[in-house]
Parts: sequence; C-alpha cells; structure tokens
Amino acid sequence: MRLPENFVQEVLDRTNIEELIGRYVTLKRTGSNLVGLCPFHSEKTPSFTVSPDKRMFFCFGCHAGGSAITFVQKAENLEFTDAVALLADRAGLPMPRESGNGQHESGVSRKRVLEANLEAAKFFRACLFDPEIGKAGMHYFKETRGLTEATIRHFGLGYAPDTFGSLTDYMHGKGFSDEELQVAFLCGKSRKTGRSFDYFRNRVMFPIIDTTGNIVAFGGRVLDDSKPKYLNTSDTPAFKKSNHLFALNYARHCCAERMILCEGYMDVIALHAAGFEYAVATLGTAITPNHARIFSKYTKKVIISYDADEAGQNAANKAMRVLGDVGMEVRVLRMNGAKDPDEFIRKYGAKNFEKLLDESRTGFEYKLENSLSRHDLTVGQEKIRASGEICEVIAGYSSSVEREVYLNEAAKRLDLPLDVLRNNVERIRRKQLEERKAKESREVRASIKHFGDRINPDSAKDVKAAAAEEHVLGLLLMFEEYRRAVQNGDVALTADDFVTAFHRRVFEAMMRMERSEGGFRFALLGEEFTPDEMGRIQKAEIARRELTENGPSAFRSAVETLREIAAHDRVKDRDLQSRLAYLRKTKLHKGKETGE
Ligand code: CTP
Ligand code: MN
Repeated sequence: MRLPENFVQEVLDRTNIEELIGRYVTLKRTGSNLVGLCPFHSEKTPSFTVSPDKRMFFCFGCHAGGSAITFVQKAENLEFTDAVALLADRAGLPMPRESGNGQHESGVSRKRVLEANLEAAKFFRACLFDPEIGKAGMHYFKETRGLTEATIRHFGLGYAPDTFGSLTDYMHGKGFSDEELQVAFLCGKSRKTGRSFDYFRNRVMFPIIDTTGNIVAFGGRVLDDSKPKYLNTSDTPAFKKSNHLFALNYARHCCAERMILCEGYMDVIALHAAGFEYAVATLGTAITPNHARIFSKYTKKVIISYDADEAGQNAANKAMRVLGDVGMEVRVLRMNGAKDPDEFIRKYGAKNFEKLLDESRTGFEYKLENSLSRHDLTVGQEKIRASGEICEVIAGYSSSVEREVYLNEAAKRLDLPLDVLRNNVERIRRKQLEERKAKESREVRASIKHFGDRINPDSAKDVKAAAAEEHVLGLLLMFEEYRRAVQNGDVALTADDFVTAFHRRVFEAMMRMERSEGGFRFALLGEEFTPDEMGRIQKAEIARRELTENGPSAFRSAVETLREIAAHDRVKDRDLQSRLAYLRKTKLHKGKETGE
C-alpha cells in the first residue's frame, strides 16, 4: 500500500532539509550549498553536501544521497513509510488514515499489529494469573526469580501456555486473521497445513512497551534451562529491535541525571523493583548507534552494568565506544560476587548496588584498572607493555584536557615520569592520525569500487552499457522535456534497451511516475528503492550537472549510443546461445554428454 504522492510532497515541502540534517551533522555554508563531515562513512575532510535549493544531499566520498526521506531512512534505519511518518510528525502533519502508519508489504498495518499485541498481552496476563494455567509461570516469577505481585503487574508480565492453539483461537475470536497474527509474529505458519500456531509456548512473557505506551513486541523466556532461552518478536510493521530499549517507558520519567544500561530483561526488572527506575536494556542485541542516539535524547550519563563474565565485559567495551561517539558521559560498573545486577541485588541488596553505581568508573579508569590488573608492574617488560596499552588509550581522546588529566593519573599509577608518557602519547597520536587518513582513503576507494557492484551487479558484465545507461538516466532525471520526449515516442527508448537490471528498474519506475497524474518526483523513488540505491540514482544526476547546456540532440545521441550497445549485446547473446546450442548438439551426437 502506497502513501498518496501529494502527501509525501507536502511532507517534503514542510521539511527544512538544512535544519533536519543540521541536527546530525555540523554544516558550513559554501555558496548555495552546505558541507560537512559525512555521517555515513568516516572522513576528516568534508565531502557531504546538502543543497537546500534542490532539497537533496549527496556525499562525494561514499555516494550516499537522496531526499530528506532518504536521509532519515539511513540515519534512523527506517523504512520509507516510517521515515515519512517521522518527518510528518515533525511537520505536524497527521499521517493519512488508511495507508499510513507503516504498512507492511502484506497490507497489515502498524496499527493492526499494535492492536493484536495489546490483545495478546491481555491473554498472556490472564493466563499467568489463572491458578491452573499459569501455575508454572507464576511459580517461576515469584519463587525462582523473587518478584512480587506488584512488580509482575507493573511490567505487565504474562505466561504463554504450553499449547499450539490457545492464543491463536483466542485471537481469531477477537477478529484477527491468520495473516495479521503471522505478520505480528504472534503465530507461526505450519508448513504442512498452512495454518497458524502459537509462536510462544510454555514461556514467561515480557511485553516490550514503547514510550507512547504501545506494546510493540514480546520476549518469552523458558522456565528451565532448555534452549533457546529467549524467543523474541522479529521485525514487524510496528517494531524494529534497534529502535527500542526495554523499560524506557518507565525510565524516561526519572533519567535526566543518569541511566543504567543492562543486558537482560530480568536485570532491569530487578533494578526497577529495587528503586533504580532508570535502568533499561537493549532487546537481546548489542547496542547500536541508534540506541546511543536514543540515550542522548534522555540523559547525560549512562552507567553500563553488564554481566560480570568475559562476554559481558567485552560488550561493555563496545558499548562504551558507541555511547562515547554520541558524546555521552559513560561509566562502567564493576561487580564482584554476582554474575549480573539481578543476582547482585538479590544477594547484597539495593544499598550495596547504589554504592557500585557511585563507584562506577569512567571509561578511562575502567581501562586503566583493566590493564594494570593484567600486568605485573614489578617486571620491567610487563610494565612497558602496560604503559604502552595505557598510552594508546589516552591517545584516543580528542580533548587535550582529558589527555592531560589521564596522563597525570597514569604517571602516578605506573610510577613513571609524566614527560616520558606524554611524549609517547603524542607519538601514538601522530601515528593514529596517519593510519586513520590512510584507512579513510582506502575505505572511500573500496566503497566506490564495490558500490556499483553491489547495487547494480550487472554493470561488471557490461561496463560500456552500464555507463551509457547511466548517462541516459542522468539526463532523464534532470530534464522533464526528455522524459516527455520518451513518453510520447519522440525518442524511441524502452525498458528493453537497458541491459542492466538495476538501470532498467530505475527507467521503468521513472517513466511510470512520469505517466501518472502527479508526474515524476525524485523523492518518491524512495518508495521502491533502498537508500543505497537512491544514492546511486542521485549520483547519475549529480555527475551530469555540468552538462546543463546540452540540447535535445545530445540526448538523442546518448539514447542512440545506448540502443546500439544494447542491440550489439543482443546479437552477441544470440551468437553465444547458438554456439552453445551447437556445442550441446555435437556433444550429444558424439555421446559425450557430461550430465550437466
Ligand atoms: N537474549 C535473547 N536470546 C537468547 C539469550 C538472551 O534474546 N537466547 C537476550 C534477552 O534480552 C536477555 C539478554 O539477552 O534478557 C541477556 O541474556 P542473558 O544474560 O542470558 O539473560 P538474562 O535475562 O540475564 O536471563 P536470566 O537471568 O533469566 O538467565
Ligand atoms: Mn541474568
């Protein structure tokens, strides 16, 4: 289901692309454009351009490009419709009723999925509180995990009974179709009979609630040690894992000072129950830059409180980096005598956890301790290695004040002269800078090389055709008169003249839109093409901006070149086919068939 074209246009009209992108990227004006450091690849010299006049962006480094919608899609990792919804919301435009709210390709709407989730949550809760059906689940929550009834109610916890049909039947009774239940990820589809069956069985259920109070997904845990420990809702029209944090619906009310990031649902629940209502968790995935941006909207400081095992500590290192990248103040909590916050609180109580929070260390302290604990400083070689590691860490800080503070701390702990360490850090910084530069240009070169391949794999087979096609498409994108000439047959050009599949798709979409009532609009291509593909399409146009003076004859000759190449390819292809046919025949004739 599509959004009405006029609506998308209205959203774009009301979106100030400069202001929008300016929230993600520091932009500087140069003439009629703005430039900045590209948010989609790492670079030190700006090649990211925003053109407010054309309402487009383009990166000359990684070839990301497109409309404001494409930008939001890439930056927030959203589908086209959801990106439009986000921009519409910013512009104060209500999404159109019928088609809006993130329609799934199946035609099941976000709204419908949310309704199904709400109904399912009621069902799971009723099961949990049923003395017969919910016995095992309730026992697990109360006895095994030590939750009070108040906490169970607060989080809307539930129980999915050990049957294949009870949720399915209940939901059918409430008017939900098989398709809706399957799209919502509440039901699976039997391969044999094609019928729906309950997806979550004999599991305690954790509803995932977004900040507006919608139930967007579920996590379901087994009651014993069987596998998999958790089943989670996959992406649905109402849910994308990396857009949510468990318990943010509660945490958002008391998180201005600090937030706690844990690994598991149970950690969060135990923390909230103990009064730390600013704890959240990612949903069974590592923290992403998108999560980090969510944190930065709500708080200044995040205390990472992952499991004490090695996996947890490695994940903490990564989380530190991801959160640091958005300018968060990050601390890491270190726990002894318990494997995770849930266990710690049950063993030692809330007071002691509060102490851990207060003692939580900055990223640097954490890494310093980590390095010191792994080396025996009384042994010369080990001391050298430890100081090398620590200098490497200090060199990674871009603020000279921070570096100076940490250098002092390190000199004290390592018992080495400050100057010696400082020189070492400066040397490492120079080296890092050079490496980063080299890596950057490698990345850019690689992305340019692979870019075309990934998006238009056919282009490798016929570079000449792909180039000719791109030229024609670029001209068509720029000039309405050329599109009209093709449409009314003044210039003979059809989809068959395109050799590569990607370019053929672009041509077809463009001409289809040209014939429609509203005519061709670049941004609307985003409905059919991925953000990466949009960048590629935009590149075809950008590369031809200098040619604005060329007249209709130039277009005609571009089309002719393309048609010649395509015709030539067809002949070549026919030749090849007939040669193959001949070979096959003669092989068979001689009885040498290989069986292929
Ligand atoms: N997780 C998951 N799928 C799994 C295992 C874990 O999605 N098979 C996610 C869940 O969100 C879980 C988190 O990763 O909450 C942390 O995993 P783990 O520490 O194993 O689970 P806990 O919630 O701590 O579970 P418990 O304390 O009940 O063993
Ligand atoms: Mn746990």
